[in-house]
Amino acid sequence: MNRNSLVSISDIGKDEIMRLLRQASYFEANPNQRILQGKVVATLFFEPSTRTRLSFETAVNRLGGRIIGFSDASTTSSSKGETLKDTIKMVSNYADLIVMRHYLEGAARYATEVTDVPVINAGDGANQHPTQTMLDLYSIYKTQGTLDNLTITMVGDLKYGRTVHSLLMALQYFNPTFNFIACKELEMPREYIRFCDEHGIKYNEYRDFTPEVINNTDILYMTRVQRERFTDIMEYEKVKDLYNLNVKMLEGSRDNLRVLHPLPRVNEIDQDVDDSPKAYYFQQAKNGLYARQAIICRALGIEVPEN
Ligand code: CP
Repeated sequence: MNRNSLVSISDIGKDEIMRLLRQASYFEANPNQRILQGKVVATLFFEPSTRTRLSFETAVNRLGGRIIGFSDASTTSSSKGETLKDTIKMVSNYADLIVMRHYLEGAARYATEVTDVPVINAGDGANQHPTQTMLDLYSIYKTQGTLDNLTITMVGDLKYGRTVHSLLMALQYFNPTFNFIACKELEMPREYIRFCDEHGIKYNEYRDFTPEVINNTDILYMTRVQRERFTDIMEYEKVKDLYNLNVKMLEGSRDNLRVLHPLPRVNEIDQDVDDSPKAYYFQQAKNGLYARQAIICRALGIEVPEN
C-alpha cells in the first residue's frame, strides 16, 4: 500500500488532520496554483456523485493537473466482466493518483493492495468517506472557531450514512458530545457505539427529534436515508420520512448552531431552512474544494504552505 493513500479517516491522526485543515485554509485563500503540472489524476466513480467527483476534478484543474476517469462504470470494461483488480492495475499505468468511489465496503482498501499508486477513498459503500470528513471538520472549524468540546447531533440514516461513521471517528480527538437521532432500523451501528465506549466519547441515543436536543446542539448534522443501500424497497418506504427539519424547529436554537448535510438532500431539510443564517450545507460543499486540494497534495507528496 502506498503510505500516502487515504482509505479511512483512521489512516491519519490528529496532527495530520490539523495540518490538512491549515492547508485547506491556505487553498481557500489561494485556490489557483500550478503545483500539479505534469500530474494525472484518475477519478473512478462506480457510484453516482455530484459534489465529490466535481470538487476533486475542480481541485485538480485549479492546481494545474490533468484528469482521466469515468463517472459511469457501465461505459467501461468492468461491464464486460473486468475485475476491480485489473481495472486498478490498468489505471495505475496511466495515473499518478487514483480517486475511487465504489459501492462495496472495503473496495478502496482492496485497491491499495493491488497498486503502488496512492488511492483516495471517495466513499466505499456504507463504510467510510474520509474526504467528506475533512471538509466537514473544516466547516465545523470555520463556523465554530474550534473543534473542541462541541455537541454534534446526527440525524437520520446513521446505519448506512458513511459520512457520519467517518466524522464520528475523526472527532475522537476533540472531546465531542454526540446525540444520535435515528429509528431502530437506521440507528448508529454498534461497532461505532463500541468505538465511543472504548474512546471515552460521550453520546446519547434518541428516537425523537425534539426541541430539547436541537436547542442544546452546536452542529446539527442531517443525513439522507440511503435508498440505494436497501434490499427491500418497502423497508425504505417505512423510514424515509421520519426525520425532517423545518425553519421553525430552529427558533430556540443556539446562535452558533449550524446545519450541516453532506448532500444530496431529498426531504430531510425543508427548503425554508435554506434562507436561515444557520444553514451551512452549500458552503460546506464549497469547502470540499479546498479540503480536497490539500488531500490531493498530501497523496502526491507535494508540500503546501499552511495558514
Ligand atoms: N457528499 C457527497 O458525497 O455527495 P456526492 O454523492 O454528490 O458526491
